[in-house]
Amino acid sequence: MRIGQLLGTGRSADVYAIDDAWVLRRYRDSSDATPELAVLSYLSACGYPVPRLGPSPATATPSDMVLQRLTGPTMLKSLLSGALSYDEGAAILASLLTDLHTIPARLSLDPEDRILHLDLHPDNVMLTADGPVVIDWRTAAEGPPALDRAMSSLILAQVAVDPASPAATGARSLLAALLPRLDAQGGVPAPHLDRARHRRSADSNLSPREVALIDEAAALIGELSG
Ligand SMILES: Nc1ncnc2c1ncn2[C@@H]1O[C@H](COP(=O)(O)OP(=O)(O)O)[C@@H](O)[C@H]1O
Ligand SMILES: [Mg+2]
Repeated sequence: MRIGQLLGTGRSADVYAIDDAWVLRRYRDSSDATPELAVLSYLSACGYPVPRLGPSPATATPSDMVLQRLTGPTMLKSLLSGALSYDEGAAILASLLTDLHTIPARLSLDPEDRILHLDLHPDNVMLTADGPVVIDWRTAAEGPPALDRAMSSLILAQVAVDPASPAATGARSLLAALLPRLDAQGGVPAPHLDRARHRRSADSNLSPREVALIDEAAALIGELSG
């Protein structure tokens, strides 16, 4: 397999072009991507917008995944450039969460449980000609949909309360537009926001400075929820 140009990079993975159809997504810390393959394959079969799984080359390691190459900006990029309004972005995020939570869980026997992304934010949505596609399923789990809504809200709120972030004002506008839309799905109940706070506090990808903003972020969600 010939690895081409670096197309994108996030907190944990690097994504390289293989050819026009496929990319190689590789965890920098050699994490095992195998559990994500089953989730992606199931969600694809359910018609949810995720990158298709590609043929894995013999040389691939467990931290490699071959995925459909998506063309288009991330939602974050579109929001920052002004190509997408905060209201449009909030509508897309809300409907991606709603649609995901209509799909039955794959493993859980609790009929209320659903597949949760738990990191669904504008940098994990790519806006393609065929519509928005959700990437980066590392944190996927099964559980109550309200926890997913709480995680997405808390991630935005943490950026909104970060005085050092150039995206703070935008994140606040997006959160303010998102929360009323999430209300229609059951909103962000306090116990789920508490669980989300604990999860974020335990996230080793966050700096101590980011962790210190979690309480203020949760308070902002309360404030904007009225
Ligand atoms: N299937 C794909 N096709 C094209 N680019 C992609 C694809 N998946 C990810 N990317 C690019 O790589 C970046 C990082 O990918 P992501 O899966 O979110 O990694 P991380 O876990 O490090 O955040 C994305 O923001 C996007 O620019
Ligand atoms: Mg990502």
